[in-house]
Amino acid sequence: MSFRKDFMWGAATSAYQIEGGVYGTGKGMHVWDVFTKEPGRIFEGHTGDVACDHYHRFREDVAIMKEIGLKAYRFSMDWSRILPEGTGRVNEEGIAFYNALIDELLKNGIEPFVTLYHWELPYELYKRGGWMNPQSAEWFGEYAALVADRFSDRVKNFFTINEPQCFVGLGFLTGEHAPGLKSPIRDTFEMAHNALRAHGRAVQQLRAHAHQPLTIGFAPTSGVCYPETEKPEDIEAARQMYFSLPDPEHWTWNVAWWSDPVLFGHYPEEGLVRYEKYLPKITDEDLRLISEPIDIYGQNIYNGRCFRMGADGKPEEVTRYEGFGKTAIDWPVTPECLRWGPKFLYDRYRKPIYITENGMSAHDVVSLDGKVHDPNRIDFLARYLGELKKASDEADIRGYFHWSLLDNFEWNKGYSERFGMVYVDYRTQQRILKDSAHWYRDLIQKNGAEL
Ligand code: FCB
Repeated sequence: MSFRKDFMWGAATSAYQIEGGVYGTGKGMHVWDVFTKEPGRIFEGHTGDVACDHYHRFREDVAIMKEIGLKAYRFSMDWSRILPEGTGRVNEEGIAFYNALIDELLKNGIEPFVTLYHWELPYELYKRGGWMNPQSAEWFGEYAALVADRFSDRVKNFFTINEPQCFVGLGFLTGEHAPGLKSPIRDTFEMAHNALRAHGRAVQQLRAHAHQPLTIGFAPTSGVCYPETEKPEDIEAARQMYFSLPDPEHWTWNVAWWSDPVLFGHYPEEGLVRYEKYLPKITDEDLRLISEPIDIYGQNIYNGRCFRMGADGKPEEVTRYEGFGKTAIDWPVTPECLRWGPKFLYDRYRKPIYITENGMSAHDVVSLDGKVHDPNRIDFLARYLGELKKASDEADIRGYFHWSLLDNFEWNKGYSERFGMVYVDYRTQQRILKDSAHWYRDLIQKNGAEL
C-alpha cells in the first residue's frame, strides 16, 4: 500500500475566493461580484473585493507553497478578468497577472493545474441568459481557446468546470449562491446540459489551441456513499446509492447525471425516465460534444454517508451516532469517503483520478505563542489520507489537492470559515503557516509513507 512515486501532492484555491483585485485591474464583473453586494446574502456582508489580496501578493503565496513543498497547485482563472465581457475584448492586465503567477510557480518547481471555471460567470453573459443560452458552449469555448493560446506553452494540466452540482444547484435551485435565483427545475436541467456542452467545447478548444499535449479533466463533486463493512452486499449497497439519482428538487446532488454523459456519452437511463418532464432536447450531436475524450477525472470529496444492505435486499442508511465528529462548518468527518469514493469512481469510469479538493474548516486562531495550532486538521488529514492510501491499491490515483492553501472567502459564509493550511489575518494580510502545513510538508517529503 503506497502512493505512486510521482504522486502530485498539492493544494487548491479558486479565483474569487483569494484574488481580490476586483477594481482598477481592467476586470469585468461576474455574478459573485454582483451577488456579494446584495444585502443579507453573505455572512456579515463580506465580499471578495480584497479577499487574500493574492492578486498583489501571489509571489509571497508561491514562496509559501514552496516552503510547504507542494508539487502542484490547482487554481482557477477568473473568466471575467481575462474577457471582461465574457467574449471579445481581452484584458491584457489579467493575462499578465496569470502569466506572472504561472512563471512564478514554474520557477519554484510547482506544477500548475488550471481550472477554467470555478463559478465566475461573467455578468455580461449572465445578462444574455448565462447557461440558459445554448450559445454558452461557444462562449466558454472561446475563453478556453484564448487560455490555451496564451498559457498552454507552460501549463499542461487543465480542469474545465468545477462542481457543476453547486453552481447550478446552489446558484439556481436553492439560491444560496450567486446569482441567488430559485429557478424552475426545468431551467436547471437546461443549464446543466449547456454547461456540459460547454465543458466538451472547452476540451476541443483547449486541444485545438494547445502548444503541447495537454492533460484535461473536469472536477465535479460528490457526497460519497460508503459501506458499513467490507461484506460484498454492503459494498454493493453503497455503490448503488452512490450512483443513484435524487428527487427532482435536489437533483443536482448526484454523480451519474454529470459524469455518465462526459465519460460514457449518454445520460443514465434511470434519469431520462425519472426526470423526463424537466428535460431539454438532447441530441446525439450534444452527447458527442459532451463526451469529447478527457484524460483525467477530478473529484472534490469532503464527506459521505454510510450504507448497508438491508434484510429486504435494499440499501439502508446507517444513521450517525449522537455526537458524531464534525468540522466547524458542520460537515461530518467521514474518512472512509476517500477510500470508497475514488474506488467506486474508478471502477465505473476507468479514468486516472485526482482528488481535486478535500479538507476541513476549523475555528483556527493565533495562539499566545503567535502560532496557529490546528490539531483537528492534522487528525482529519491523517485519517482521510490514510483511507486514500488504501484506495491507491484499488484505483489509479494521481494526486491530491488540499482545500485550501489559504483561508479564504467561503462563498455565502464569507470569511467565517477557515479551510486553509495557512492562516490569513484579513486585517493585515499576514500569512501564518498552521501546524498542519508543517505536518503536510513532512508528509509530502516521505510521500505519505507514515500514514
Ligand atoms: C467546494 C468548493 C470550494 C470551497 C469548498 C469548501 O464546494 O468547490 O470553492 O468552497 O467547497
